[in-house]
Amino acid sequence: MSAFIDAMLERAKASKQTIVLPEGDDERTLAAAQEILAGGIADLVILGNAEAIAGSAYNLEGARIVDPAKSEDRQRYAEAFYELRKHKGVTMEDALAKMDDVIYFGTMMVKLGDADGMTCGACHATSDVLRAALQILKTAPGVKAVSSFFVMAVPDCEYGDDGVFMFADCGLEIQPDAEKLSQIAVNTGRSWQTIFGTEPRIALLSHSTFKSTVASADRDKVIEATRLAKETAPEMLIDGEMQADAAIVPSVGTSKAPGSPVAGKANILVFPDLDTGNIAYKLVQRLAKAEAYGPITQGLAKPVNDLSRGASAADIVGVVAITCVQCQAQKAQ
Ligand SMILES: CC(C)(COP(=O)(O)OP(=O)(O)OC[C@H]1O[C@@H](n2cnc3c(N)ncnc32)[C@H](O)[C@@H]1OP(=O)(O)O)[C@@H](O)C(=O)NCCC(=O)NCCS
Repeated sequence: MSAFIDAMLERAKASKQTIVLPEGDDERTLAAAQEILAGGIADLVILGNAEAIAGSAYNLEGARIVDPAKSEDRQRYAEAFYELRKHKGVTMEDALAKMDDVIYFGTMMVKLGDADGMTCGACHATSDVLRAALQILKTAPGVKAVSSFFVMAVPDCEYGDDGVFMFADCGLEIQPDAEKLSQIAVNTGRSWQTIFGTEPRIALLSHSTFKSTVASADRDKVIEATRLAKETAPEMLIDGEMQADAAIVPSVGTSKAPGSPVAGKANILVFPDLDTGNIAYKLVQRLAKAEAYGPITQGLAKPVNDLSRGASAADIVGVVAITCVQCQAQKAQ
């Protein structure tokens, strides 16, 4: 397991948070839960069939097991969900039915403070996890758009911070406009500060560096997003529009973007849309054999993180630890 995840585990243990794991019917989730409980990483609420979970091969002593179908909180969560969504045409009957969905039930738990955060997605689509979070938890104060990032750890790499980068948004916002792109940049900078505690250097990427190409809507979107991001967070090192090599390679940064505080030393790469972000992280993961952790959600009022459906138990433990660190940071604000 990487140094990054080790650090997250240690920080999670330092101030235990309560995390909901709604996929208690999933074997890997239960294996992860056993490890989390044994390691003192988090307090857990596990959703699912209580008898099946209790009868599993795993030692889940200390976890709160909740069966949404039988829970005494079902009505309370449904009523709160109805209040949140009735302006969208949701009826009380719809709300009660929604509580059969473990993702919605778990998200309501977080909303009402019965847990601090949630980690799931081992057997649910990303869009299902995020839609519930967006509908129920909404954005944190001051944040207009929820987005996501990957922590990329590239072996034997002198760029970024010893090969460590954040890539955003590679998982959520499909076609951000300039304002949303600027939010992705600033919020990823804040996530860097939360997770690493060091200075983020944020590059907004394009096919062009400092207007080196002819004007186009794509290029100008990144130029405008850079302007807005700098305006929103003047204390942060943010620059763009720039090409990927100008962002990370010092000699190219100096020649293509002289005077930039970011060019040549960026540790955060902000992509213009989900296509470029998603393609880039997968190429770096496969071709450079990088470790890729994410997508980690940012900007929600309370932390919810999605898992890849191929996630192993160890991956789930890691994402729970990251969720705990985000919970700690939000409480400290
Ligand atoms: C996240 C996602 C599911 C939301 O899209 P959707 O299903 O079309 O849902 P909607 O657009 O109806 O949005 C649902 C709610 O979330 C809100 N929302 C959507 N995107 C948001 C964002 N980035 N930040 C904050 N709120 C957002 C909407 O305003 C809406 O709120 P409301 O219902 O209270 O009005 C969608 O953007 C998505 O699927 N993204 C890609 C995720 C994915 O599959 N990733 C894996 C491959 S990379």
